Amino acid sequence: MNEEKKQEIYWDQHFKEFDQIYSYRKSRLKSILDSTFRKDMYKRFQFVFENSEPIEGKTVLDAGCGSGRFSMEFAKRKAKKVTGIDISENMISLAKIIVEEAKVEDICEFHKSSILEFQPEMKYDISIAIGVFDYIKEPLPELTKLAKLSKGIVIISFPRIFTWRAPVRKLRLSLNKCDVYFYSKSQIKILSEQAGLNINKIKKVGKLYCVVAFPNT
Ligand SMILES: C[S@@+](CC[C@H](N)C(=O)[O-])C[C@H]1O[C@@H](n2cnc3c(N)ncnc32)[C@H](O)[C@@H]1O
Repeated sequence: MNEEKKQEIYWDQHFKEFDQIYSYRKSRLKSILDSTFRKDMYKRFQFVFENSEPIEGKTVLDAGCGSGRFSMEFAKRKAKKVTGIDISENMISLAKIIVEEAKVEDICEFHKSSILEFQPEMKYDISIAIGVFDYIKEPLPELTKLAKLSKGIVIISFPRIFTWRAPVRKLRLSLNKCDVYFYSKSQIKILSEQAGLNINKIKKVGKLYCVVAFPNT
C-alpha cells in the first residue's frame, strides 16, 4: 500500500477525534488535555491569520484542509473563494458540514484530492498547508506543486525534529499505522529553495516551524 493510501485510511478513521481538538463541545478533562498537549494547533491557527491578512477579496487554497476549520475562518474573514482539498473523504464531508453550520458554504468548495493530483485552472492569492507535511515522506513534489499553484503568500507548518514530543508522537502514530516525519530548519530552507519558494519568515511555534513564503515566479 502506498503512503498516501495509508494516510487516507488513517484520516478516514480518525477525522472526528481530530476535529474534536477544535471543538468546544467536549468534556472538561479533554479540554484541559487538549489545551496542554495540543496547544500548538491553536498557536498555528493564530499564526496563519496573523500572517495572511488582508484576506478580503482573496482566493485561498487550503491544502490538506482536514475538517475545514481554516477554510471556515478564511471565509468568515471575507475571502472571495476558499478551496479545500484533502485525500480523506470523511474529512471533506465534515468540512462541508462545518462551513454550512457557519453559513459560509457559498464561499467554500471542497474536493477529495491529493496535492499532487489537484489541477485547478487558477493560481491562488493565499495558499496554506497546515499539519500536512507531517505526513508526507518525500515532500519536495508537494512543496513544488504548492509553489506552482500560488501567486501570493504560502504558509506551511512543519513539525520540528529535535523536540521531546517527536519520538513520542512517532511511536503513538506508528501504533496506529500512521507515519509521521520531522524537519530541521536547514532542511526546510533547502526544500523550499528547491521547490521554488522564497522564505520570508520561519518561526518556531511551539514544537513546529511555521513558514511564510512566496513563489519565485
Ligand atoms: C492533521 S490534519 C490537518 C488538517 C487541517 N489542515 C488542520 O490543520 O486543521 C492532516 C490532513 O492532511 C491530509 N493529507 C495528508 N496527506 C495529504 C496529501 N498528500 N494531499 C492532501 N491532503 C493530505 C489528511 O487527510 C488530513 O486530513
